[in-house]
Amino acid sequence: MPSTFAWWQRGIIYQIYPRSFQDSNRDGIGDLDGILARLDYLVELGIDAIWISPIFPSPMADFGYDISDYTAIDPQFGNLAGFDRLVAAVHRHGLKIILDYVPNHTSDQHPWFRASRSSRRDPKRDWYVWRDGKADGSPPNNWISEFGGSAWQWDEATGQYYYHAFLKEQPDLNWRNPQVAEAMLAVMRFWLDRGVDGFRVDAIHHLIEAEHLRDNPPDPDWRQGQSPARRLIRLYSLDQEETHDAIAAMRALTDRYDGERVLIGEANLPIDQLMAYYGTHSPGFHLPFNFHLIKTRWEPGAIAALIEEYESALSAGAARWPNWVLGNHDRPRVATRVGREQARVAAMLLLTLRGTPTIYQGDEIGLVDTKIPPWRVQDPWEKNVPGLGLGRDPQRSPMQWDDSRNAGFTCGAPWLPLGDDYARVNVAAQAKDPRSMLALYRALIALRRREGALSVGIHLRAIAVGSILTFRRFHKGRWIKVALNFSAQPQQLDVDPSERWRILLSTELDRSNDGVASLLHLRANEGVVLGRTT
Ligand code: NOJ
Repeated sequence: MPSTFAWWQRGIIYQIYPRSFQDSNRDGIGDLDGILARLDYLVELGIDAIWISPIFPSPMADFGYDISDYTAIDPQFGNLAGFDRLVAAVHRHGLKIILDYVPNHTSDQHPWFRASRSSRRDPKRDWYVWRDGKADGSPPNNWISEFGGSAWQWDEATGQYYYHAFLKEQPDLNWRNPQVAEAMLAVMRFWLDRGVDGFRVDAIHHLIEAEHLRDNPPDPDWRQGQSPARRLIRLYSLDQEETHDAIAAMRALTDRYDGERVLIGEANLPIDQLMAYYGTHSPGFHLPFNFHLIKTRWEPGAIAALIEEYESALSAGAARWPNWVLGNHDRPRVATRVGREQARVAAMLLLTLRGTPTIYQGDEIGLVDTKIPPWRVQDPWEKNVPGLGLGRDPQRSPMQWDDSRNAGFTCGAPWLPLGDDYARVNVAAQAKDPRSMLALYRALIALRRREGALSVGIHLRAIAVGSILTFRRFHKGRWIKVALNFSAQPQQLDVDPSERWRILLSTELDRSNDGVASLLHLRANEGVVLGRTT
């Protein structure tokens, strides 16, 4: 264990979904100048770094995850000069900036793909995954796109299929071709040279497919109503060995830059498979995103088991720093999933566990999913497979800043509807309320900063007793104990009186520095952080 910790180990990351954060030019879509205008808010919140979802030129078939030029800014968001201004301002504010890097696929409008599809003899033909159909003309195999339908798209002009793990407008790059790897590493260099502090690397487990392209086997656990892509076990289309060579090259390049640049990998995988993304033969990601808090049943026994499984998997390898995520632009909001009361407990969990926390914009004011009427649906997933609850618009509705028209997000017509609670649930109102969700986030973040045991301390044993989850943290003579009541009934927790704990923070924000005798009464949905010095 190093004696000093990097910023991305000590710090807290805040995800900005730029279309929905702050509009500055009245087009109803958030932009870079909007982010610039809200930096003070982020500093006050206490976070260390912003990760911005894609801001590059894009036809927006998948809202920026379909990139047609990797080294420019989409005019909807601003331009390169504005980006440079933002980087400088972020750094002036003492924050870091992380960009989204999308190596698995481009837009079908990217010049590389236009060239590739222009002819079988084009030098860029092999930059994408092209195959003949079967003898009967059907696609090369049974693979299903993540957004529904075959993962193969027929190209009439050149008489072959191309592979797309996501939309047909997002053709997969062929990372087995060294020219592709070289061109994509040059993209990283472009932004690192401009001063970005790292990347969140999109859909990394999709990067490379098995060369033989065999059919994926059916998943016997799949049920009607679940995502169509899950009909198959993605044995040959996901998480292939060779992916780790590509990640190692990304890491080697990043390590050549000064100033602790960070690489975060988006790989939605079980914990044992995730561990390989820290690196196999050579270093991989600093932080392979851990989405298991989002996916695990909200129940203390299940959460305790998850924490212990993750901690023990990490301990098998040196230099594996943990991280936790409660929400993002792809998943229903935590306050919707667990309820507004438990969302406070969830915030305390996220910000007291060992490992870098990532906060999704709006969770700090307890935003819930917004109901999207059918005629306002934007997300291609919902359009492709409607009615299964897979659409991601509800968690992407705009940030609620105040109670003015459109919640202060835009003076124009917002691209997605706002939550109908914005007159009540907004940053300005919560900033004035000492017991609001925002006040809780600020207090938890400040506490994490103050207490080394929380930011970098070791983790000791998560256990569930009845409805209460507890665990401890320790650093340099300082003990922290976290106790979270997952139920809507009051609970009692036995405390060893000889340990002389004091309450540092309650999710209710109404007690601190009280000593704890032999019993701690936790109110419904209450979590507390206790501290003591040895
Ligand atoms: C994961 C991103 O988070 C999601 O929004 C996107 O649709 C897919 N990758 C494809 O890029």
